Amino acid sequence: MNIQDIKMLEKQDFPEFRDYEGKGRFGRGKYINRGNWVDYPPSHHFETGLITLDIVSDLIESNKKLLSVGCGNAYLERFLVNRMGVKKEQISLADYIEPEHRPPKVPEDFKSYFFDMYQEWPALDDSFDDVMFPDSILLHSHPKEEMEYCLYWLMENALSNLQPNGQIRASPSCSSEHSCPTSVYKNVRDMLIGAGHNCQSEYFPDTDLLVVRKSNGVRK
Ligand SMILES: C[S@@+](CC[C@H](N)C(=O)[O-])C[C@H]1O[C@@H](n2cnc3c(N)ncnc32)[C@H](O)[C@@H]1O
Repeated sequence: MNIQDIKMLEKQDFPEFRDYEGKGRFGRGKYINRGNWVDYPPSHHFETGLITLDIVSDLIESNKKLLSVGCGNAYLERFLVNRMGVKKEQISLADYIEPEHRPPKVPEDFKSYFFDMYQEWPALDDSFDDVMFPDSILLHSHPKEEMEYCLYWLMENALSNLQPNGQIRASPSCSSEHSCPTSVYKNVRDMLIGAGHNCQSEYFPDTDLLVVRKSNGVRK
């Protein structure tokens, strides 16, 4: 399967994206606006590199577990199951409904959690090989002085729920106009290492992709 196949299949599965022209957030694609939140088709997340075909193969071959925080209507996650061969049991969903926002339609047949990711996280039943934040962090919506701490909080919590050698993948900025300074990512990495996490991180500004890898389970 390649990106063109994904675009064709997602239009069949989710006709609401039939006018989606691609290139997601940094291009001119059309998305679904569900009140205050925008939902993206699966191909968007392949185009930003949030998820790759290699990650999908690895999920399937190694029966890995994925947590998606801020899944919204879970278009990507449903596509992974319905079209790409990932088992539903491998995916856990998480989202949070603020009273002023229209709730997402988190599919009921997936394991799902409801919590505000900026508050204390509940104990989750599993630990995960991959934790992703698919366009759910929206860092630019936080005051500049809070951006680092917000991102640190999310990475710290995700790391706590991650298996050794697992990875976190996030698209944190939301828009090229509002992308936050790259120093934020460097400082967050330094804060994580300072707190004893044995991890590495990399930020790809062109697609707004942050990858944090947990080296092993040992805290220094
Ligand atoms: C831009 S939408 C993206 C939805 C979906 N991941 C996608 O790519 O289509 C952002 C999602 O993050 C969720 N979200 C926002 N703030 C959150 C919070 N504090 N805790 C958990 N989820 C949150 C929203 O409910 C929404 O579903």
